[in-house]
Amino acid sequence: MIKIAIIIGSTRPGRNSESVARWFYEIARKRNDAEFEVVDIADFNLPLLDEPTPPSMGQYTKEHTKSWSAKIASFDGYVFVTPEYNHATTGALKNAIDYLYNEWNNKAAGFVSFGSTGGTRAVENLRLIMGELQVADVRSQVALSLFTDFENFSVFKPADHHEQSVNTMLDQVIAWSGALKPLRQNDVGA
Ligand SMILES: Cc1cc2nc3c(=O)[nH]c(=O)nc-3n(C[C@H](O)[C@H](O)[C@H](O)COP(=O)(O)O)c2cc1C
Repeated sequence: MIKIAIIIGSTRPGRNSESVARWFYEIARKRNDAEFEVVDIADFNLPLLDEPTPPSMGQYTKEHTKSWSAKIASFDGYVFVTPEYNHATTGALKNAIDYLYNEWNNKAAGFVSFGSTGGTRAVENLRLIMGELQVADVRSQVALSLFTDFENFSVFKPADHHEQSVNTMLDQVIAWSGALKPLRQNDVGA
C-alpha cells in the first residue's frame, strides 16, 4: 500500500496549519488506495541545520536528523501543508526539508496552502525546491483563503468545495507515488 505523509509545515504556538492538516487527514483516511499519517515537524525539534556535511552524502551525526530521516524515508509521497510567510513557505519547513536529500528523491508531492491569496506563492516557492530534491510535484493543489475559509483568520471553517480538491490532488499524488516506485527500488539518480 502506498504511504503518504501529511506534513504540518509551521511550528508557532496557535498555528493554523495543524487544524488544516487534521481536516485533510479526515478526508484522506476515507480512501482505500493509500495509507496516511500526519507528520508534525514540531515533534522533531530540529534546530537550524546543524549537520557538518551536506545531506546528499547521508552522513548524519545528530539523533534529531536520524529520527527525521527515518520518518521521511518511510513514505512514498508527501502532502505539504504550508502557510504563506512573506510570499514563501515557512522557515521551519524549509529547514526541515533541507536536513535530508535521498529520503525525498523519486517520490511525489502535493500541496495544501493558506494565506490571504490562498498561499499560492508559498507553493510556487516549494515547487522550485521540489525540483532540486527530485520530487514530482502534482498540478492540483488545495488553496485555502484566510478570508473565507477561516473565521477571524484563526478558526478553520473550510468551504465544502475544497473536499473535491483534496481528492483530485490525492488521485495525482498517489498515482505518481506508485509510478515512481521502480526508480526508488533501483535507486536511480539518488
Ligand atoms: C511571519 C509571517 C509572515 C506572513 N506573511 C504572509 C504573506 O506573505 N502572505 C499571506 O498571505 N499571509 C502571510 N502571513 C499570514 C499567514 O498566512 C497566517 O498568519 C497563517 O495563519 C500562518 O500560518 P500558521 O498559523 O500555521 O502559522 C504571514 C504570517 C506570518 C506569521
